[in-house]
Amino acid sequence: MLRPAPLPCRCEVPSVRVLEGFRLARIEHHWYLLFRAHAGRTVALAALGTTRPGDVYCDGVRDHRLFDKARFLDMAIIEPRAFGIRSGTATIRVTDSTDAGATIALRLAMAQETEFLAEEPGEVRTNVEEEAGFLTKKLSSPVDLHILAEVEGRVVGIASLDGSTMSRFEHGVRLVLGVRRDSWRQGLGRALVKTLLDWADTRGIVRIALEVVETNVGAIRLYESLGFEHEGRLRCRTKLGGTYFDNYLMARIRLPTNAA
Ligand SMILES: CC(C)(COP(=O)(O)OP(=O)(O)OC[C@H]1O[C@@H](n2cnc3c(N)ncnc32)[C@H](O)[C@@H]1OP(=O)(O)O)[C@@H](O)C(=O)NCCC(=O)NCCS
Repeated sequence: MLRPAPLPCRCEVPSVRVLEGFRLARIEHHWYLLFRAHAGRTVALAALGTTRPGDVYCDGVRDHRLFDKARFLDMAIIEPRAFGIRSGTATIRVTDSTDAGATIALRLAMAQETEFLAEEPGEVRTNVEEEAGFLTKKLSSPVDLHILAEVEGRVVGIASLDGSTMSRFEHGVRLVLGVRRDSWRQGLGRALVKTLLDWADTRGIVRIALEVVETNVGAIRLYESLGFEHEGRLRCRTKLGGTYFDNYLMARIRLPTNAA
């Protein structure tokens, strides 16, 4: 369900809280953007600035200050979407700074529940401001898409594509995925990856790559079923409980139809 992020002060733009289909994201400390997604790109309605506590004003998108501040009109984003899963319905949407507490809790839980993600429990970033800054940076990036899955308001999965702005590599992204253990085998992993693939396809991304530990049979099956192929093996890449394991390199390649 769409939910505008709360403004830290009284908002004098009466439509902000009621506009269906729009979201509010913090761009910088004092700047917010009211936006919605369309065909994989952002349509901005307005920039909202706070000059002092309790005072908010609004700029139209043609205002040069918005263009100066926001490469946002090209940021990576998706429309929120609902997916039927085995236990009901999940909502998948982009993450923003207001999700920081929930994404920290999710990462901490997953670090306890699985060895197949990169972070040990003590390595998860737990500072809410830092996490909020990270999510804002990802939201404003034109090449990185970070999404989450919610079931009945609880964040239970997260997935991302991280890209490059360098012209020799901008056709490629790297995929990361994790779901809370009590929500495995509900269809969430598949729904999250499909959402990323759909976005990548609208953007003409050629190469989606990932690494997976050789013993992570469930994830490997999931990726294979969505068209990822094995490309190679990184020997002794992951150390689990004192034992070294290889990682598989997997990728899904989709060349433009006019390419050889
Ligand atoms: C891998 C992971 C994301 C899968 O998420 P999920 O929500 O359970 O996946 P889904 O329910 O969408 O399952 C999709 C398919 O993947 C395969 N799969 C998933 N888990 C499996 C398992 N434990 N054993 C065998 N196959 C499995 C199945 O083919 C499944 O389809 P099916 O349920 O119709 O048989 C989840 O187990 C997880 O977060 N694991 C820990 C973190 C991790 O490994 N991340 C990936 C790192 S590369």
